[in-house]
Amino acid sequence: MNIELKNKIAKEFAENFTEEPILIFSPGRINVIGEHTDYNDGFVFPAAVDKGIIAAISKSAHSVSVAIASDLEEKYEFSVDSVSPLKGGNWRNYILGVVGEIQKKGFKVGNFNIVFGGDIPNGSGMSSSAALENSVVFGLNELFELGLTKEEMIFISQKAEHNYVGVNCGIMDQYASMFGQKDHALLLDCRTTVATPFLIDFKDYELLLINTNVKHSLADSAYNDRRAACEKVAALLNIKALRDATEADLLKVKDQISEEDYQKVLFVVQENNRAQAASEAMIANDIEKLGELIYGSHDGLQNQYKVSCDELDFLVDLAKNSDDVIGARMMGGGFGGCTINIVKKGKADAFVKKVAPLYKLKFNKECSPYAVNIADGTHKIV
Ligand code: GLA
Repeated sequence: MNIELKNKIAKEFAENFTEEPILIFSPGRINVIGEHTDYNDGFVFPAAVDKGIIAAISKSAHSVSVAIASDLEEKYEFSVDSVSPLKGGNWRNYILGVVGEIQKKGFKVGNFNIVFGGDIPNGSGMSSSAALENSVVFGLNELFELGLTKEEMIFISQKAEHNYVGVNCGIMDQYASMFGQKDHALLLDCRTTVATPFLIDFKDYELLLINTNVKHSLADSAYNDRRAACEKVAALLNIKALRDATEADLLKVKDQISEEDYQKVLFVVQENNRAQAASEAMIANDIEKLGELIYGSHDGLQNQYKVSCDELDFLVDLAKNSDDVIGARMMGGGFGGCTINIVKKGKADAFVKKVAPLYKLKFNKECSPYAVNIADGTHKIV
């Protein structure tokens, strides 16, 4: 956790409010493999990282709630008595959404003060939004003694995103951020929300993230469109979700759907298989196999599911051309954000040195490497 950030948030809280806050750290996440499978009831393989959101939060002595987004230097006042989604509300909707969804479940929260800030860049595909939602629901649960379980909290966070932010996300991000375990990735069955922790030990290899520093617009609507396409085909097949389909099942309805939709649902079925195969590769210590699966995942995300972009494809192509990288793919919802790479230990710097100027030349912008440490999920700091 970032001590500097913690001190900054605590200081800013003290400058604005007289109440004593509790401090919550809520991490962002990476995902080794299993992309766009969560809302199809499938498998994902995420891990929480040591970067995320720190929130200072207290009850308010007044009849108003005050939220301060430290990084953006923005302040918003509202009352918990009348909460609804704001048009163009950005970060405000994550907070309002959590309050609204807690209330929908029949719980009462009073007004509160919150100051939050983070050290994962917005749009990096590392789920700063789930980290924020989780910090708010976790903080309110503590302050108002709601007695919510972590499981209940993540579904509140997810509903906030659906109903206030307008992204019909799955449960991966909220789960990973809340339940993350130091040094472990979680093979999560998104139907049962039961996870198996795997010690992350890539032997001669390590993880490297490279941020494209782009987030293309329309990502949210493209996300919702893909989810709707998956649900449409699941309905055609008369199954609950694509997790229940095989490639042979998809062939049965191929002539009833467009070629684009067929490729998309085929990707989901294959990606779900890849996520499970990845866990087997990890058990067998077969890191090369894991790398192959990760390249396969990118190929599907790029060509079948069509959620990649030129910047991500460029970085993955350079990884493929390097002897030191055995797997790379885009991570998260897509249309920008980071690639995740499995790189030979000690070779990450050299790879970044090679890639960065080429990226700059091609796109006239910087890409940024991140070394990540796998960390515990949402918790109270003080
Ligand atoms: C976003 C969503 C997740 C998941 C990923 C893609 O991060 O919030 O629920 O669907 O995209 O795997």
